[in-house]
Amino acid sequence: MSGTLSLPRIMGHRGAAASAPENTLAGIRKAAAFGASWVEFDVKLTADRIPVLMHDDSLRRTTGDDRPAADVSLAEMKRLDAGSWFAADFAGETVPTLKETLVLLLELGMAANIEIKPSPGEDAETVTRTIAVLEQVWPASAPAPLMSSFSLESLKTLQEQSPNLPRGYLIEELPEDWRAVAERLGCATIHHYAKAVTKAQVAETKAAGYGLAVYTVNDPDQARELIDWGIDCLITDAPDVIAEAIS
Ligand code: G3P
Ligand code: MG
Repeated sequence: MSGTLSLPRIMGHRGAAASAPENTLAGIRKAAAFGASWVEFDVKLTADRIPVLMHDDSLRRTTGDDRPAADVSLAEMKRLDAGSWFAADFAGETVPTLKETLVLLLELGMAANIEIKPSPGEDAETVTRTIAVLEQVWPASAPAPLMSSFSLESLKTLQEQSPNLPRGYLIEELPEDWRAVAERLGCATIHHYAKAVTKAQVAETKAAGYGLAVYTVNDPDQARELIDWGIDCLITDAPDVIAEAIS
């Protein structure tokens, strides 16, 4: 796996979360059908330490099960319906493992922004387990996945354990010490929050040499404005709508 990275203009968020249940294989197929070459998705661990795609610490919102993901084994999680909450058409969609997801991405020829989204206290182990899966299934010839996180501990663990994988620093409000943090953690990209980022911050982070992404951009006018400001990549629930808006 190589550390070089060229951000795409458009990245499907949690697959294509406006059109299919987030963090599912159906969502990734939908993003591919919309022409997205990259997808972002969230990874955390099951009780038996298997990396799966899940955003929330609790399984409730996307499967109806009240337990934390970290307390449920993969076998139990696989029995849950992760599609019906979104629309009846997606009934029976399951929570995918990271491994299943990577296999699908390779089949589709897509690239990945793997957001490490650890359950509390699992910042380092989520990284270790994720890297183990990547080493098992992701070929050296495929584009290196972008490894992103809000967790500075996860980014540090990535830097220590798999330094060649490009790292993305996820930011909500740009902290004063952002430059020192990004430099210390050797990040390749900075991912700004669409509701908070300003034109001045885009200029400041771009001038420092980072690739810039913004999440989550679903409004066509905002997409065009951000491109004008110099953003490289729009992470969007609606890759179809946003691709059209900036074409
Ligand atoms: O990785 C970008 C974005 O997904 C970060 O926020 O909460 O949607 O995972 P969130
Ligand atoms: Mg995410």
